[in-house]
Amino acid sequence: MDLEHLGEKVRNCNNCHLRKTCRGVVFGEGNPLSPIMFIGEAPGQNEDEQGRPFVGKAGQLLDKILSAAGLPRESIYITNIVKCRPPGNRTPTLAEMQICLPWLRRQFAFIRPHFIILLGATATQGILGQDYTIGKCHGQWFTRKGVQFMPTYHPAAILRNANLKKLIWEDFEKISSAVKLV
Ligand code: URA
Repeated sequence: MDLEHLGEKVRNCNNCHLRKTCRGVVFGEGNPLSPIMFIGEAPGQNEDEQGRPFVGKAGQLLDKILSAAGLPRESIYITNIVKCRPPGNRTPTLAEMQICLPWLRRQFAFIRPHFIILLGATATQGILGQDYTIGKCHGQWFTRKGVQFMPTYHPAAILRNANLKKLIWEDFEKISSAVKLV
């Protein structure tokens, strides 16, 4: 089994009801040898249509932030905690995240990144736990089983609130310096 085969398996997944309302499964993409993996919430409409993560407005903003931080999109691996678009772009439920998480764990086992960046509250709380609020823990590294996790703001939040720009940029400066050391 390799990452490509895992992708096929995930695309055929029917483990929860989200597959009934979305167009297709968005597995993830990028450099499978990257030391850094980004995890968002779930595909939105554009991602659902194109079968790729972060290709809408938030994704375009993320691409800009990534290149400014010296981490061009093609150098990283990017996916979501939930692989199917929830109807109307609602936030995935805890149950949906729990059903989908084994796929993310298997993806992780192939990529073995040193760093995982959690984009937004949903990915942060789904992975680190419900007590991890983004306002308090963004920009901090949390070590779990030798892997460094950093929550930061979701680019969609920056589009809604320009005041967050400075904060996300500070977080990305830390990310960029850590990755350069590897
Ligand atoms: N927001 C996410 O969290 N993931 C995507 O893939 C797109 C938008």
